[in-house]
Amino acid sequence: MEYSLVCTNCGHAYDQFYKSQVCARCGSFLEVVYKSEPKAPTAARGSFWDFSGVLPEGKYRKYEVGMTKMFSDAGDDRLMYKLETDNPTHSFKDRGSVIEVAKAKEYGFDEVACASTGNMAYSVAYYSKLYGIRSRIFVSREANKDKIEEIMSTHDAVITRGKWDFTGAQKEALKYASKTGAFITGDYCYRKEGQKTIAYEIISSAKNVSNIIVPVGNATLLSGTLKALSEMEAAGAIKRQPKVIAVQSERCNPFSKAFNYKGMVKYTVPSTSADAIAVGYPTFGDMAARQLRQNGGMAVSVSEASMRRAQKRMKEYYGLTIELASAATIAAYDSLKPRLKGNSVAIISGGNV
Ligand SMILES: Cc1ncc(COP(=O)(O)O)c(C=O)c1O
Ligand SMILES: [Zn+2]
Repeated sequence: MEYSLVCTNCGHAYDQFYKSQVCARCGSFLEVVYKSEPKAPTAARGSFWDFSGVLPEGKYRKYEVGMTKMFSDAGDDRLMYKLETDNPTHSFKDRGSVIEVAKAKEYGFDEVACASTGNMAYSVAYYSKLYGIRSRIFVSREANKDKIEEIMSTHDAVITRGKWDFTGAQKEALKYASKTGAFITGDYCYRKEGQKTIAYEIISSAKNVSNIIVPVGNATLLSGTLKALSEMEAAGAIKRQPKVIAVQSERCNPFSKAFNYKGMVKYTVPSTSADAIAVGYPTFGDMAARQLRQNGGMAVSVSEASMRRAQKRMKEYYGLTIELASAATIAAYDSLKPRLKGNSVAIISGGNV
């Protein structure tokens, strides 16, 4: 789809050949705006690339990604799981990385820079290697050491680790990109477009979905999910949007607080064991809060203990290893179940522990 890139702060518009994900005028992040209404197939035919009609036009190599399994809970037929651990690097991040790394290649870059709590690094490094591009990753102090080892040994990424949290790592990555000319990747506009496909897949493979439960770190997945639902509603593919339930840990919940107290997102020092959602200041937080209000959804926080219980249950019942950030959506379902109407889908966002 033809598109332009519009700055979320100053409103300046760039054409689709603009070689960055950040506004040259004010440094803010951009949003992909399509020239015409995105239209996806109503039923997925078996490939992520069937959703090209809702993605930015680009020179993509059709690597295997997405089209992940959905299955019902064994004891509760109103709960389904969307199993993102099925992706090549075992998290939903691959949906976004396959798009943004392709853009870096298309625009002639030979290096990408990225900030990560772990999964993003794994995913960006994986696709960068496939595309023959170097990757330089700035990891946060919360990042899981085993994930980082795996990335360095298998995918040749150069890792810089500092005392900074994820928000600090993002600044470092941006500084590095502007100094060296590397393409900045991570929680930016192209990733969000790729991550929309998760909602398209859910809607095309399950009937009567009333609630979609989404974990929130930087809120890119949340913003992408809500954008996809709005696109589907505008295209007439769904009559009504499922309600979206955004989930954070009680020990790092700047988004839930801002949403529930109707203020702007404020920085919180992350102190959750769910490393993938240990984000003190969600980049897409304020935008996603506006989208979530329009959707009529809600934002909740769950305890560390409830995430651990859900993680254990998935291992015992299904033999599935899922990380705490993923278990957050199940923990949210557990606590909201008596209040929820209709069928719910909990996104199991990743399985790298
Ligand atoms: C497994 C997992 N779940 C959830 C999230 C949160 O996604 P987002 O940062 O888009 O809100 C992440 C982000 O790193 C993740 O890796
Ligand atoms: Zn701007």
